[in-house]
Amino acid sequence: MPFNRNIRGVLSAVRSALPDPDRPGRVLTAVERLESASRLDGALGPLRRAVHALPLGGARDALHGRWLGHPAHPMMVQLPIGSWMSAAVLDLLPGQRRGADTLLALGLATAAPAALAGWVDWADMRKPQMRVGLVHAAANITAVGLYTASLTARLRGRRGLGRALGFAGLTVVSAGGALGGHLAYRQAAGANHAEQVPAVVDPGWHAIGDIADLPVGEPVRRYVGETPLLVVREADGTVRALADRCSHMAGPLSRGKIVDGCVRCPWHGSVFRLSDGWNVGGPATSPQPVFETRLVNGLVEARLVREPDRAHRPVPRSA
Ligand code: FES
Repeated sequence: MPFNRNIRGVLSAVRSALPDPDRPGRVLTAVERLESASRLDGALGPLRRAVHALPLGGARDALHGRWLGHPAHPMMVQLPIGSWMSAAVLDLLPGQRRGADTLLALGLATAAPAALAGWVDWADMRKPQMRVGLVHAAANITAVGLYTASLTARLRGRRGLGRALGFAGLTVVSAGGALGGHLAYRQAAGANHAEQVPAVVDPGWHAIGDIADLPVGEPVRRYVGETPLLVVREADGTVRALADRCSHMAGPLSRGKIVDGCVRCPWHGSVFRLSDGWNVGGPATSPQPVFETRLVNGLVEARLVREPDRAHRPVPRSA
């Protein structure tokens, strides 16, 4: 039938326009090159130090999203991007000038806190992530410049130019958003790097070593199967055990510092309470999987505390 032939023709045209699924396409190849673009590295250190020097106090952890349990930046960008997308739709409709201008201005006002949250996350990333993040930020700064110019043109009555600049801004911010997706999903920036622990640790008790081999107050690494554990023997004999790979970026907690019943990650300084794995200090936004321990004939055994048991554990008042 001609209708079916047309459909088949359209599908075949769409298939030939898509990249070959058996090899990386041009876009992916370009972004992967960006990950190793060392010519960007000169800017990373000074920028990172500048972001760390910002006097944000407790707001830094809030911007990371510790209160939310995952990074706040992706949620905060919904406001500017949603406003600008809606303004673009209104720009295509008759009689919607005021609404379009208001949304465009709202996008500009909400872009600043979203950007700040992004920079705070960026300053605690690994180098390949920082390179992609820097270009992501540059695209978004360009988009803000285009939208600022668009709003200025609109306020001066140059609506055609204002609309054109707005569409250009939307194009650039969409490209920046695609890089943000690569950063979050391909490079796992902001993902919980301890999330797989409950899936790979077998239920039940596991021997992790002799109590006599555990130094008091010092972090050491032990294993349950192939999963590394941070183990600390406290002065009163209690043995604490957390998953060793930090939920922030998989840093080795067993090389961290033990202070006031907590461990400080050696990579970016996240702080986890030894008694229950809670992330009392960022940049980590997820807690650390925790193991309960017992002593059997001088041998320490550990068992993963699984949800929902973990949620119902009594939490100590102070970290
Ligand atoms: S890996 Fe970043 S704080 Fe631990």
